[in-house]
Amino acid sequence: MTAVTATTPDAFRPALHYAARSTWLNDPNGLIFHEGVYHLYYQNNPEGNVWGNMSWGHATSPDLVTWTEHPVAIACDELEDIFSGSIVFDRHNTSGFGTEFKAPLVAVYTSAYKQASEHHGVQAQSLAYSLDGGYTWTKHAGNPVLSRGSSEFRDPKVFRYEGDAGSYWVMVAVEAQDFEAVFYKSEDLKSWELLSSFGPANATGGVWECPDLFPLAVDGDPGNLKWVLTVNLNPGGPNGGSAGQYFVGDFDGTTFTSATTVTKGLQDPDRLGHYQWLDWGRDYYAAVSFSDVPDGRRLMIAWMNNWQYANNIPTTPWRSPMSLVRDVSLKGTDGGWRLVQQVAREFTSVPAGTPPFMAGAGEISEGTHLLDGAAGSVQRIEATFMPGTAEEFGLIVRGNGTHGTRIGIRPAEGRIVVDRRESGQTDFHETFASIDTAPIEPAGNSYDLTVYVDQCSVEVFAQGGQVTLSELIFPASTSTDVSLYAAGGTATINSLNITQYA
Ligand code: FRU
Repeated sequence: MTAVTATTPDAFRPALHYAARSTWLNDPNGLIFHEGVYHLYYQNNPEGNVWGNMSWGHATSPDLVTWTEHPVAIACDELEDIFSGSIVFDRHNTSGFGTEFKAPLVAVYTSAYKQASEHHGVQAQSLAYSLDGGYTWTKHAGNPVLSRGSSEFRDPKVFRYEGDAGSYWVMVAVEAQDFEAVFYKSEDLKSWELLSSFGPANATGGVWECPDLFPLAVDGDPGNLKWVLTVNLNPGGPNGGSAGQYFVGDFDGTTFTSATTVTKGLQDPDRLGHYQWLDWGRDYYAAVSFSDVPDGRRLMIAWMNNWQYANNIPTTPWRSPMSLVRDVSLKGTDGGWRLVQQVAREFTSVPAGTPPFMAGAGEISEGTHLLDGAAGSVQRIEATFMPGTAEEFGLIVRGNGTHGTRIGIRPAEGRIVVDRRESGQTDFHETFASIDTAPIEPAGNSYDLTVYVDQCSVEVFAQGGQVTLSELIFPASTSTDVSLYAAGGTATINSLNITQYA
């Protein structure tokens, strides 16, 4: 068996996920659907595959599935790095950057000023605009447009607020070290007025980064809108390192009021388990949503990596994939409002490579059972289980007969686990090998799982999409087995469907 090493050309390149051709990427930036095209900009080092020279890379897609990489959109220079931010379509040319015939796209990004700049040490918000649909960009001569003199003020997400309070641009950004989301208002994207701030609240390890704020209809009822504030934090996630949390509440055009802030148990070591997380896995960070998606859909994507080991993962020549794009909705439950996330429906029409593997109901006896004919490297696995006497049961994917990535349910503990300790290469960083868990509840007496497996990742959607775990893995290309297992007793598989992509 040939081991896949970091020097294998294009090792681990995903089939379903976006990754840059040959360079580093981190946070998604400037996500927008415009003139029939999805634009994905991202933190990019155009000159290497570790973090540095921060610029906005660029890719586009007609369908969220296939992406085309374009030249760097906004490049760093000797004065500033181009940190994270967002893009709006300024359809009424409020900024004046447009012409009589063409309304501009306006990028709002963080200028991270360098030594040579008169603003050295400051992070402030700046503008660039595009009159060709997002391919070439001109920096605004009056940058920065919003500075607080702070060295940790970044990641502006701008959207058009239309509500009882009026119609204007709203920016949410962070004071990263203060665990504060700060809200500003503008008529023209150039001059900004402070509205309010939110935080610290719930998880406050590390720094707060990359916030987002958007309304969602509870259970699809347009008469019942709630606002969701998402905040990424690093470190301090529920399984270590980078992760994103969310708050549900109201935004009146000035102030965000959270209905999901937990004030009890601040000394409780398990308190992270009481907060709401966009994803419980180790590799779902800087999640942010697209603007102007048709049909009121809220689509999110995240950087699939973790700052703990981001620069060390053994991919080459590129480094870091994006997550799959997710459709996000809001559900009222007995426990409160919960985000429900599904992989965007566009993925269900990706043509399968070989016929699907299907299995009917049956008992899973104690032990590990290799599924003949189910092997694959790029798969969507849909499974429904019923507990029996087993302490833990589930799936092993990207296996090599003895080892693999274990995705299991522990019904007595009410937890789902993703164990990547034997997933393949793990020794490139001491914190990588891990067993990560999230709370989970059955639906009736059964547990549903949808798992997207790719060349270097698993993304697990459980409990109807209320619980997700995204994890990088680095298996040998020959590790393709799929198994069912039960430990300490038996369990039942109700249905199993595997779509094979490659
Ligand atoms: C989050 C982050 C942002 C910053 C960017 C720099 O991963 O630290 O806060 O804008 O990355 O690349």
